[in-house]
Amino acid sequence: MAEDYIIADIGLAQYGRTELDIAETEMPGLMATREEYGAEKPLKGARIAGCLHMTIQTAALIETLTELGAEVRWASCNIYSTQDHAAAAMAKAGIPVFAKKGETLEEYWEYVDKIFQWGDEPCNMILDDGGDATMYIIWGARVEEGESLPAPQNEEEEAFQKVLQQRLKESPGFFKKTRDAIRGVSEETTTGVHRLYDLAKKGKLPFPAINVNDSVTKSKFDNKYGCKESLVDGIRRGTDVMMAGKVAVVAGYGDVGKGSAASLRGAGARVIVTEIDPICALQAAMDGFSVMTMEEAVKHGDIFVTSTGNKDVITVDHMREMKDMAIVGNIGHFDNEIQVNGLRNLEHVEVKPQVDMYTFPDGHRILLLSQGRLLNLGNATGHPSFVMSASFTNQVLAQIELWKNHGEYENQVYVLPKHLDEKVAKLHLDKLNVHLTELSDEQASYINVPKEGPYKTDAYRY
Ligand code: NAI
Repeated sequence: MAEDYIIADIGLAQYGRTELDIAETEMPGLMATREEYGAEKPLKGARIAGCLHMTIQTAALIETLTELGAEVRWASCNIYSTQDHAAAAMAKAGIPVFAKKGETLEEYWEYVDKIFQWGDEPCNMILDDGGDATMYIIWGARVEEGESLPAPQNEEEEAFQKVLQQRLKESPGFFKKTRDAIRGVSEETTTGVHRLYDLAKKGKLPFPAINVNDSVTKSKFDNKYGCKESLVDGIRRGTDVMMAGKVAVVAGYGDVGKGSAASLRGAGARVIVTEIDPICALQAAMDGFSVMTMEEAVKHGDIFVTSTGNKDVITVDHMREMKDMAIVGNIGHFDNEIQVNGLRNLEHVEVKPQVDMYTFPDGHRILLLSQGRLLNLGNATGHPSFVMSASFTNQVLAQIELWKNHGEYENQVYVLPKHLDEKVAKLHLDKLNVHLTELSDEQASYINVPKEGPYKTDAYRY
């Protein structure tokens, strides 16, 4: 039988396995989940289509899901984020994985299509990061029901529609059958969660969803502390630039922006923040950052990073005003935060993969990282294992919940209950030698919380 995977190089499998062994020592939440649920196999029967950066940490997630009884097929959710040795280790272990660092946009959508190719028994769960896999099935089913696709706006949408049309032609009814078999989706990131809430609001979400991003132990850790480590890592591996003393501009002061600004400050850069939200702008100012508009900041910055989840945050006009050799990158989910398409006609040199230099007609140059795609995964290896353990423990709990109790959920977006959020945090304390204070009975009743938690109301913001 032909191999059921598409990866760069199976010869990298041993390297991937060794790094995976190391990662496991830093992922106490995931390992505890294996210990707790391994024998019971709560995911038996689950056929999970997974679309999330194919990194070493994700390999640990995949092996946790399979140890809990699931079958999975996997693709990356970004063309640059795959770690080829991680993909190789998974392929070698018999996981159908479709992911190569630097895959084309068309390959990207073909690989998304492949995670849904389960033969006669369709896939019945989605684990998504950014919402592409979910949208693929939902759009396919809508077209099968007579809706037309909007005209593609860019290369990405062209590739999406080409692959979708091909599948519609080859396998009539495929999307409706898959959609109807799906018990639920667990979504990893802010941008994907926005897409799900939008669908739910319009009454177009066809299955229940768990918003993993808004577990406190996800967004207040991965988005923040993860980016705090991986943002500067990406800029350094991409450019080797001296950061101390430079002026860095971070667009957006949400969770990712907070981590990114701290990352740059930690490297000695002087950091400017841009924001649209007065609360986040005030937070940035009171954390000691200058806050101004991009129009003002563009004259000062040596390094620019977008972290908004919004589009057109750095425009071609902004880049036209930048200093010679300004570094421009994005850490938000999609590449449209920077108007990359507007650079296409400029003189261009690929310095190395994921680092491109563009020259404007007046002679000034900019260095663009990862073609505007998330640079911490494109230019470096994403977040460290420890913080991904917290994120992925939430993912596993969400998958178990949706798989076992889907009947109790409507086609809405849910977050995991607080006691599970606290449980995820607790699983990560020992590794850091954190000793938790225990409430006395009197104290618990004085502040009116159960001794064993939950310790905060849902309104608490951390
Ligand atoms: P968030 O919603 O907490 O923060 C985004 C911030 O950007 C908000 O405060 C918003 O007011 C601000 N903003 C929106 N438009 C703006 C504009 N035009 N100019 C300046 N500020 C603007 O979202 P979060 O969790 O920080 O995520 C941001 C993006 O990063 C999302 O696309 C998310 O999916 C992605 N992400 C990337 C990760 C990575 O490893 N690269 C990890 C986690 C999330």
